[in-house]
Amino acid sequence: MIIEPILECRNLGKRFGNHVMRHETLALGALNLAIFENEFVCVVGPSGCGKTTLLNIFAGFEFPTAGEVLMAGKPILGPGPDRCVVFQEPSLFPWLTVLENITFGLDHRPIPREERIRLARYYLFLVGLGKFENAMPHELSGGMKQKTAIARILALDPAILLMDEPFGALDALSKYRLDQELQAIWAAHPKTVVFVTHCIEEAICLADRVVILSPSPGRIHAEYPIDLPRPRDRFSKAVNRLQREIITSFADISDPP
Ligand SMILES: Nc1ncnc2c1ncn2[C@@H]1O[C@H](COP(=O)(O)OP(=O)(O)OP(=O)(O)O)[C@@H](O)[C@H]1O
Ligand SMILES: [Mg+2]
Repeated sequence: MIIEPILECRNLGKRFGNHVMRHETLALGALNLAIFENEFVCVVGPSGCGKTTLLNIFAGFEFPTAGEVLMAGKPILGPGPDRCVVFQEPSLFPWLTVLENITFGLDHRPIPREERIRLARYYLFLVGLGKFENAMPHELSGGMKQKTAIARILALDPAILLMDEPFGALDALSKYRLDQELQAIWAAHPKTVVFVTHCIEEAICLADRVVILSPSPGRIHAEYPIDLPRPRDRFSKAVNRLQREIITSFADISDPP
């Protein structure tokens, strides 16, 4: 039986034009990638190599200028409830409580209000914020805001989660804890995840496969399947060895991640 990818880039190219400056940037060039259902893929690469552009194309916010991008075999024509994005900076509604921020996304769904609240509480509990449902966003730390943003998206239950350096702005300890929690959440609720990070160690701890993009224009430089048992210990020899191998592969391309 042939398993079809849930997301697929075929010779994907993206060119940005600046009409005022009469200048063009080739962000992605002939990128081929297939991502399968419930796979956790981490995308790593030097700054400016097109990682965010790739996520935006998966999200339907941007469109290819060459090649094609498919979801379950059909071209992606725009954003949809089947794909949700977690950005580096969480954007919560400052006038709503933590709980209301989560139920807000569910309000247009044909489910009773009590069920929406139950779902919101469940996902808040899952990210460890059960006691903060009545807090306002300004009362939360950066990590707690990001957890709220993640709970909001998990409650929407999209088939595909697109995460653009979601923990990049956090301190090392919060980042480590959130990585641990994300591993546990993903184990309990498997989903297709495309996770952009600059941190190779984080990528190895989270991913089924680490995809390395080459510098602009972004293409696949290398792919590393990670078959270590979960939960993964970032201090283990196996993680260390893989990290060394991946970092060494960057010697072939100009900039480090
Ligand atoms: N809307 C846009 N208009 C013009 N150029 C753009 C636009 N968005 C991205 N680019 C260009 O495309 C290239 C890839 O940008 P992108 O943001 O995808 O990189 P990135 O890999 O996410 O970088 P970083 O790691 O710094 O976040 C860059 O040269 C950038 O200047
Ligand atoms: Mg980016």
